[in-house]
Order: sequence, then structure tokens, then C-alpha cells
Amino acid sequence: MSNLNNPSKTLNISHRGISKEAPENTIPAFKLAFEREFDGIEADFHLTKDGEIVCIHDRSTLKVTGIKKIVKKSTLTELKKLDVGLWFDKSWQGLTMPTLSEVLQIIPQGKKLFMEIKCGVEIIPKFLQILNSSQFPREQLTIISFNAAVLKTLKKYAPFLKTSLLSGFAINYQSRRRISSTKKVLRKLQLIKADGLSLQTHKLLNQEFVKKIQNAGYEYHVWTVDDAETFKKYREMGVNSITTNLPTLI
Ligand code: G3P
Ligand code: CA
Repeated sequence: MSNLNNPSKTLNISHRGISKEAPENTIPAFKLAFEREFDGIEADFHLTKDGEIVCIHDRSTLKVTGIKKIVKKSTLTELKKLDVGLWFDKSWQGLTMPTLSEVLQIIPQGKKLFMEIKCGVEIIPKFLQILNSSQFPREQLTIISFNAAVLKTLKKYAPFLKTSLLSGFAINYQSRRRISSTKKVLRKLQLIKADGLSLQTHKLLNQEFVKKIQNAGYEYHVWTVDDAETFKKYREMGVNSITTNLPTLI
């Protein structure tokens, strides 16, 4: 059942789309998630050499195309020539890497996009330009990133956008420093004016920690939860969303 109409309920977010049945970060994978009644999708984005925004996880195209091109050193035309379906299964041959605009167009009314920005602040002007010229409702969007500078800068130019800082539980991937003390986490969220924290699952995560974050006024999101027992645990903790690789809702 969808949880979009009840903000106190945990949202189910499909990680890179239904990537067990269709190639990750592609339109078919995203559409499948909505057919399965997920509340939203999570998708990864990079800036190309010619200033376009494309949906792909890695900075290189090697994994999903078999050809190594660095996204930021390639033009959209070059990237669109690559097949992002064949690596997954012959039946997906001919799929191309979606742009941000193409992803925004297939998100149904009321459903969420957790947009992960994988590069740096250089993506922001083009992102805001695309958003401003699209009809996509702002309330359906949450910007997530491990890059705190990206979220901080976004808030400066687009304070109406919801942001959530990605991190491992114990380690900030960017700085490799420990950020697990609640005080430090809250200070960081405050500094970058984020709306939430998106943490990786961890056996030490407990209700007390989640509540401390939420009671301080922040959303608490978790990724990726791929089994029923852990789902139950986080739902009971009252997290705002669970991002999963599971192909169906549980
Ligand atoms: O939802 C957050 C998660 O996607 C971050 O890790 O490597 O899967 O992009 P990654
Ligand atoms: Ca991601």
C-alpha cells in the first residue's frame, strides 16, 4: 500500500529502480517500480562534459556499457550512443542512458524521486535550469548526496528543495572521518541546512538514535534494506523512508 498520503508512514523507495529485473538507473527499471506501487525511486546523476545531466551510478560507463568513457569527459551525444541494456540481458539491448529530464517525465503524480547527485557543485546551475523549466512538482523531489557542499550550495540557491545528507553510519565516505556521534551529525546537518539524514543500515543503529535525529527536526532515511526482518525493524523505528533493492514491496 502506498504511504504518500500519510507523512508519518515510512516511504518505500526503489533503489536504482527494480534493478533485479531491468538494468539499474534506466526508464524500464523506474517504470517497473511504479507499477509495483513503490512510493518513489532513487536514481544517480552526473554532469556530462557538455553540461547535460545523465542518470548513471559510476563516473565511468564501463560497468553498464562494457566501454570505458568517463561521464564528465563525454558529451551527451557520445553517451547516448552507448547501450546500457545489453550488459544486463540481451532482451534489454538498445536501451540508452536516461537524462534527468527523461526521468522527471516518467514519475507519476505524487510519487517521489530521491535524486542522488554523484558529482560536485558544478551540476547545480544546470539542475536548477532543468527543474525550473520542467513541470515537476518540487514536493516530489528529495536531493541526496554524500557531498555536503552540494547540499549546502543547493539550499543557498533553492531553499525550497528538500535535501538529505548521505552517509555510512560510522564513516563519512568523503572525508573518511567518523561522524557517528549524534552531536556531530546534528551540527553537520545544521551547518548545511539539510532537511534530513540518509544513513546506510548498521547493526548499531537503534530507535534512540533515529528519534534524536527526528526530534531535532530532521527526517531520517535509511539505505539499502534488502530483507524482511530489517525492513520491519526500521519501520518500527519510524524512519521516514527505506530504500531497497527488493523487487516487490514487503
Ligand atoms: O540511496 C543511497 C545509496 O544509493 C548510496 O549508495 O552507491 O548505491 O549510490 P550507492
Ligand atoms: Ca545511489
